[in-house]
Amino acid sequence: MAVLGIESTAHTASAGIVGEDAEVLALASDMYRPPSGGIHPREAANHHVEVLPGLVERALAEAKLSEREIEAVAFAQGPGLGPCLRAGATVARMLALTWDRPLVPVNHCVAHVEIARVLSGLDDALLLYASGGNTQVIAFGAGRYRVLGETLDIGIGNFLDKLWIALGGSFPGGPAIEAAAKGRTELLPLPYTVHGMDVAFSGILTAALAQSERGADRADVAYSVEVTTYSMLTEITERALAHLGRANVVLGGGVACNERLQGMVRAMAEGRGGTSFAPPKRLCVDNGAMIAWTGALAHRAGVRTAIEASAIRPRQRTDLVDVPWRPAFA
Ligand code: ATP
Ligand code: FE2
Repeated sequence: MAVLGIESTAHTASAGIVGEDAEVLALASDMYRPPSGGIHPREAANHHVEVLPGLVERALAEAKLSEREIEAVAFAQGPGLGPCLRAGATVARMLALTWDRPLVPVNHCVAHVEIARVLSGLDDALLLYASGGNTQVIAFGAGRYRVLGETLDIGIGNFLDKLWIALGGSFPGGPAIEAAAKGRTELLPLPYTVHGMDVAFSGILTAALAQSERGADRADVAYSVEVTTYSMLTEITERALAHLGRANVVLGGGVACNERLQGMVRAMAEGRGGTSFAPPKRLCVDNGAMIAWTGALAHRAGVRTAIEASAIRPRQRTDLVDVPWRPAFA
């Protein structure tokens, strides 16, 4: 069985094909990079409309499959930017209709979690989903992914992107901040905002920019921001582990590419007698393979949508979708 997945929730348009056991048979992606500043949803959507048909063709060629061998077409239904989601949904509907295959809606956050989970081989792990728009500590229970802790304002990735652009850099900020911070040791004071199992970043953004205005070196700001915010994420993850009596952590989402974050979470989990896992970078960031894999799980569990009912859901939270492919009380 092979399933095609279409991703288009934000900056990245992508088509992925996976097989029965989550083998990535093909992955073709193209990221929209704004000429300056942040993402403009309309412009990103125009980019996706232009590139998606070619990405689907490339994915089929890479997988050496004909369209007849694709069993279902999955697409990211939400959450995300309306115009971007609509671009991917339109392409997916058209493929499902012309190939006469089921159309399977997928939640983008659940897809980050599922691809990380299958690659980790850790079934009972707690999930730290850290990406552009989302920052959540997640555990499965009673048929859904439950959010135990999350950001109270912006996602960690958006925070890093905004900070880097304000410091004169360009999008995406996360990897550039990681590169700038490497080898640095000067820790500038920044607010440490953990509230129970939740975190907040906007105060840190203001404080980091103030440090820069007072003349702090950009690389020191990058280092201090990484140490502070990744410590916060590690702390809320550890608190959730302690409550659940578990020790293993799986990371997902674009910020899970970060080696400092991976290292801090690994040290914490190993200290508790467990382990941690993060997928390879191309499967941490937005990609069609995670949509295809989650679509394959959903398809096997009988999930599909009629074209008329396949409207996008820009605000669909992680904990709003049923997960019928996992035993409810596992
Ligand atoms: P969401 O899943 O919330 O919709 P998203 O769609 O914006 O997020 P992802 O591709 O999952 O996108 O994550 C993108 C984010 O990951 C960007 O904010 C980017 O700066 C960040 N990122 C990528 N690589 C790194 C890295 N090495 N270190 C830190 N952040 C990173
Ligand atoms: Fe994402």
